[in-house]
Amino acid sequence: MQTDLAYDAFCSELEKLSGICLGAGKQYLVSSRLRNIMKSHDLASLSDVVKKLKSEPRGKFATSVVDAMTTNETLWFRDSHPYEILKSKILPELLKTPGRSLRIWSAACSSGQEPYSISMILEEYFQSSLVNKGNVKIVATDLSESILEEARNGVYASLAVGRGLDPQRLKRWFDATTDGQYKVKPQVAQRVEFRKLNLLESYALVGKFEVVFCRNVLIYFTPEVKKQILLKIHGVLAPGGYLLLGGSEAISGLSDKFEMVHCRPGIIYKKI
Ligand SMILES: C[S@@+](CC[C@H](N)C(=O)[O-])C[C@H]1O[C@@H](n2cnc3c(N)ncnc32)[C@H](O)[C@@H]1O
Repeated sequence: MQTDLAYDAFCSELEKLSGICLGAGKQYLVSSRLRNIMKSHDLASLSDVVKKLKSEPRGKFATSVVDAMTTNETLWFRDSHPYEILKSKILPELLKTPGRSLRIWSAACSSGQEPYSISMILEEYFQSSLVNKGNVKIVATDLSESILEEARNGVYASLAVGRGLDPQRLKRWFDATTDGQYKVKPQVAQRVEFRKLNLLESYALVGKFEVVFCRNVLIYFTPEVKKQILLKIHGVLAPGGYLLLGGSEAISGLSDKFEMVHCRPGIIYKKI
């Protein structure tokens, strides 16, 4: 059973743990996503969930609640233009010095479609431009441990590969598995390193990047949290590096930190 007070208290704990701000009226979403966890921990009400979260904020229970509450919707080459901009503008610009190294961060990578799409673009760019592959690395992070496990696995059902991948890319960059699924080829997977990272916490251990994809995650946060995250991303971007946000996200209020670059279609942000 949920009372308004218990719902508000749950939203506040979830926001402390993940930054995710549910807002009003999501009681049904909460109860459907927490049903199994509550059953397996023998918790009768949302107040019991809140009590347990407060007493063990860093434990396995909190991890499973946050995992259940994240929205992992993603697809291959989402919105197309970020990947076209990467191939036609960012890579030629950043890799014009021979042997130059490049680090790209997929900052909320979900089940891996985003970082693997970036890696496919890199392979295609290297093959078409005859530029030396050099030292290019993709670091892919997410808050949800269960989704990172899927991403690391790199195996997708036919329904998932049907979302955003054309048949040529499917044939070129995936191996069919014996049980009718598709596994990302080692050539694409090997430059992607998956790590758990909560965007609310420190980025001291992720290093510096020339390109950051932080797409379709800022929408879940309050304006204040969003601003703090954008400032921290600014801190890990190399001079002249690029930030790519989701279609409904912007750098509101930080025009002294990022210059808007119109690519028609699409906008990217260059570190000032
Ligand atoms: C809707 S998906 C977006 C995936 C991908 N970037 C895309 O655009 O398709 C949002 C992802 O953000 C992750 N996420 C939510 N809160 C986070 C946080 N505080 N730190 C890191 N990742 C978070 C979720 O686990 C989820 O996988």
